[in-house]
Parts: sequence; structure tokens; C-alpha cells
Amino acid sequence: MIPPKQVQEILDLTRIEEVIEDFVTLRKRGVNLIGLCPFHNEKSPSFNVNPTRNIFKCFGCGKGGDAVTFLMEHEHFSYPDALRWLARKYNVEIQEIVRSPEQVAEIQYTDSLYIVNDFALQHFQQQLFDTDEGKSVALSYFKQRGLREETIRNFGLGYAPDQWDLLLKTAKSKGHDPDMLRKLGLVNQEATRDFFRARVMFAVHNLSGKVAAFAGRTMSSDKNTPKYINSPETEIYVKNKILYGAFQAKKAIRQKDECILVEGYMDVISLHQAGIENVVASSGTSLTEGQLQLIKRNTNNLKILYDGDPAGIKAALRGLDLALEQDMNVRIVLLPHKEDPDSYVQKYGGEAFTEFTTRESKDFILFKTQLLLAETKGDPIKKSILVKDIVASIAKIPDPIKRSLYLRECSALMEVDENALVSEINKLIQTALKKKADKDARSPSAASDSPDVAPNPEFPTADPALVTPRERPVQKGDEFQERDIVRLLVLYGEQMLPKEQMTVAAYILLDIEESLDTFDFPLYGRFAREYHQMIVEGKSVDRHYFLNHENPQICELTVNILSMPWEMSPNWEERFNNPLQNQPMPDLNFDIDARQALDRFKLRKLMKMCEINLVRIRAASEEGDMDTMMHYMRVQQKLNESRNELAARVGTVVLSK
Ligand code: UTP
Ligand code: MN
Repeated sequence: MIPPKQVQEILDLTRIEEVIEDFVTLRKRGVNLIGLCPFHNEKSPSFNVNPTRNIFKCFGCGKGGDAVTFLMEHEHFSYPDALRWLARKYNVEIQEIVRSPEQVAEIQYTDSLYIVNDFALQHFQQQLFDTDEGKSVALSYFKQRGLREETIRNFGLGYAPDQWDLLLKTAKSKGHDPDMLRKLGLVNQEATRDFFRARVMFAVHNLSGKVAAFAGRTMSSDKNTPKYINSPETEIYVKNKILYGAFQAKKAIRQKDECILVEGYMDVISLHQAGIENVVASSGTSLTEGQLQLIKRNTNNLKILYDGDPAGIKAALRGLDLALEQDMNVRIVLLPHKEDPDSYVQKYGGEAFTEFTTRESKDFILFKTQLLLAETKGDPIKKSILVKDIVASIAKIPDPIKRSLYLRECSALMEVDENALVSEINKLIQTALKKKADKDARSPSAASDSPDVAPNPEFPTADPALVTPRERPVQKGDEFQERDIVRLLVLYGEQMLPKEQMTVAAYILLDIEESLDTFDFPLYGRFAREYHQMIVEGKSVDRHYFLNHENPQICELTVNILSMPWEMSPNWEERFNNPLQNQPMPDLNFDIDARQALDRFKLRKLMKMCEINLVRIRAASEEGDMDTMMHYMRVQQKLNESRNELAARVGTVVLSK
């Protein structure tokens, strides 16, 4: 047998796509991978591999599961053999064959901890349901709080009567070792009295549904009694890795592709009873990395519900940059004054709750910006601290497109020049990259995913082109991309590209042909279209043509461009650590320069197309027109793919100077 600890280790290391790629050819489609299903005959691929969730699913034959399932199905392995195969692949040395006495003891030890907890659960349940006192004191308490009997059983609720050592005595009479109860925190250190007394009980389950711990709530309103007391940490209860309710919620979280995070035990239970099952609780503490990982395994979308005062909420927000680093979408809902999720749903019902939380949910970063902004009240020092704080959060986001959108929104909210934010964030990213480079230099083997590096190494930069305002009157960012195209045309348009056997102008204009009508700046658009037209007509064009153009604006534009030795993005030096000083002359640098300019230009246009297409998807879905919607969803996928590819390229180009 393979020790459970190692099973976990193996499963944690396993990447589904790496396993399946040993048997099936996969190619990327969005965040997933697809291929031809090995379990049934097909010509077009419906076999889907989802790396985020570590699962596969065939939409043709319905087969699906994790890497172990795959190996069992595909290779006809037994469960342990599948694990052994994975262990070999991931270089986990399994120490099985004969277990050492210590190993046996360890397993027996954890097993018996669960056994004792299970006994305790039964005891508390029996006290609740089968004794007069339990019924009149505790069961009525739960019912008065709106819980149905089914819910009470489902969540393992119970009752610990006000007696000195009832649990201890009962345990002994059933042959349980008092030492085990002591280790679980169910009795005091001397093993003379029960820990939970005169409280209603909540079982805390681990992900596989075993009882890992308990919490007890007092029914008295005496301020000197703590409201809840909880089991201590044990081998089977590692607090920062357990989320209350996760066992009951995990299926719904996957189905809804969203996890709702609340603070309390009762919140989880009441919401679940009201049909909102994708809920877990952090149990009054801030979210830990381990808990986040647990959520991330099932969904990327996190909705956090807060009640209470701004101070408390501010503290809670601090931990959330962690979620941004994981590229999760975090939304915040503030509940009405004096309500928590439990009281709200008991008062208004599940539908109203869902409606409220959908309507009121705000994007985390925008929420944080607004919340903190309210406190700066025109104080410039406070405001500059706020700006740094927000920018630091945004810098954690690995996706450059998302970053750029946030910068844009936040600059508007905070009324700070977007370029200032861009330069701020680039400083942070540069620092993080430098830190990573230093670290890599020190330990080349541990180069990848070091946890303290903010940006995803695949998308390492916030190029100015990514961070350009939109749809406001005249904006530098848009101007820059379009002007840059004109610049290339004026400066290099006539040059021949030896490899392509065409002029630079032809190369560029054919490359952006579909975008010629979408220039935001009429003058640049006109310039590009006219140049294009002349190429199409086979006329030879040179800068003198434009220098003597009938339209004075075009003349002026051409003159301006020609009179500058060469031009880079505004604030270029500030943003990229002075690359200009050692830069070769523009002519020598032409290739990379042109490629960058083109990429940036196309990226802008792609982002616009994405936005337009999203509107179409929404419209189609509102009309219930599924076919059109599906069509545009496919378009969106393609757009996203190209966009990500370009974004990555722009990032890399900028870095590799
Ligand atoms: P709350 O004080 O908001 O309680 O604490 P609640 O969940 O609304 O509980 P009810 O509705 O009054 O019964 C939120 C969570 O913080 C933890 C518990 O996990 C609780 O659910 N907590 C709170 C403690 O562990 N100990 C305490 O004394 C109080
Ligand atoms: Mn409550």
C-alpha cells in the first residue's frame, strides 16, 4: 500500500495535461486543451483537458475524471498501479512494500483520531436529537434560528450539555483512549473534563467529509463567555488549509464556477439550506494561501461577502492581493447594515439573496479604490499612499490586459493621470523582475515560479501600449499606436525589405489592412488609407508626396515626424530604465522597432474587437439566440488567443532590449 501522505503528494504534483499528453495529442484552445478522444472514435476533437481544475472530459462520450481515472480507464491500471505510474513520472519515491512499524503507527494514529472524532460527532448528535434536554435546549435553538432538521443532520450539528465530563465518561465506556481525546482537544490536558460544555456543536469536515474538528457556540448572551470555541490544531486539523463547508460546497462551486466566501458557520449553513450551496467560510480569520489554493482548484471566481465596519473590511482586504496573484477574479459584496449572510437569507430568502449579491457585487480593486478614496478627502499625502497601495495590488495581476484595464479604471476613479500610474506600476514590475533575476542567478534550478515575484513571468511587463485610455475625447495612448504606424511609414516606407521583397510600407499596410478603417484619429487614418490606396494602385510613394500634400495637416504631420530624429513612446526613459542611452541608431534598430510598433497597434485593435464582440455576445444571450451567441463565443476565443499571444510578444520584445 502507498501511504496516504504520499498519495496526496503524488496527486498534488500531477498535472493532468502532462499525463494525457503521453497518450493523446493535445492542442491549446483558450485555457484548455483539446484532442481526439481515446475512448471513442471521432474525427473532430471533443476531448477536453482542463489544467486549472486538473480534470479531463469528453463531450462526445461523456468520459471524464482526473489523471488517476484516466490511467485506470486508458491503461486498465488498478488504482494503486495508476498512482505508481504517476509516482514514477513525477519522481516520487514510494516507500511501500513493507511498512515500517512507525508508518503503520502513523496511519493508525491518524485513523484513530478520525475514529474518535466520529464517535464524538455521534455523541453530540445523540445528545441533540435523543435527549429531552437536547431537544428542548439545543434543537429548539437551531430551529428558532431557522434550520430544518435535514440541514441540522447534514452539517453534523450537535449538542454538548452542561456537564463536567459526559463526553469523556462515555468515550471511556466505549473503549476510546482518553489520550486521543486530549490530543483532539475534546478534553483538557489532564483529561479530567470536557472542553465543549453547554454549547451547540458544529462539526468541521475535511474535503473528503471526515470530521476534522469541532466548534461550539454558547447559547447564552453573557458577554464574558466567548461566542464560539474551536478545536485546536491537530494532525488532522490544519486550520489554514480547511475551509468550513468546503465538503458540502465543492460540487456546487464547480457547477456554478464560483465560490462565495462568508465569515461564519451559520452563514454557510443558512445559505446552503436556502439553496445557495457554493459557500464556504473562513471562520472569522482572513483568507490564507492554503485556503485560496483549495478554492482555486475548483473555480477562478471568488465572491466575498462582508458585513461590518469599514475598518474590519479594510483589514480583510489586505489579504486579497494573494488572490490577484493567482489570477482569480475577486468580487466584493457589502451587506446592508447589521445584516450578515445568515440573517439576510433567513429574512428575505435565497432568491432575494442571489439577486442582491449579484447586483451589489463590485470588482475587488475598484471596491478597494473607492473605499480608500473616501478616506483621503483631498489630503494629497493620504492620496499618494492610496495610489501606491492600489498600484501595488494591480501589479500582482499576471495578465497584462487585465492590468491595463484596471489602471484605466482606477486612474479615472482616483483622478490620477494614467501615465503616472503606468510608470509607477512599471517600477514595481521592474523591481520584481530584478529580484527574480537575482534569485535565478543565485539558484538557477529553482528559477521558475518563485512565490515572491509579483508578475507572471510569461507576461512580464506593462507596455505603455497596453495601458491606454479609451473612449474619452483625445487620448495619448491610442494616439501613440496610430501615430507610430504613420511614423514608420514616413521614415521607412520606401525602404525595401530584402526577405519579403516588398517595401516597408507595403508590408505594414497589408499587415494591418483590416484595421485601416478603425483608426481612432482621423488624420492618421487618412494618412494610412491614402498610402494604402496608392500601393494598391501600384503608384510609387515617398515622403515628398506627403510633404507637399494638399492637406496642410498631413504636411505638418510629415514634417513633424521627419524633424524628430526618432521617436519612442512618451516617457519612455522613465518607464524602462533608460534604454535609450545605449540604444543603437534607429536605422539599425529598425526591425525590432517596426515589429513592436505593429504588435502594439494590432494589440490595441484586438482589444477593441474583443470589447465589441463581448457586447454582441451579451446581446445574443439576452435575446436567447444561442446559435449567434455560440458563434460569437468562438470568435471571442480566437480573439483572446491572438490577443494573449500578442500581449506576450509585446512583453517579451520590450524586455529583450
Ligand atoms: P460572528 O461573530 O460573525 O458570528 O463570527 P456568526 O458566524 O454570525 O455566528 P452567529 O450567527 O452569531 O451564531 C464569525 C465567525 O468567526 C468565528 C466563527 O467561525 C464564526 O462563525 N468566531 C467568532 C470564533 O471562532 N470565535 C468567536 O468567539 C467568534
Ligand atoms: Mn450571524
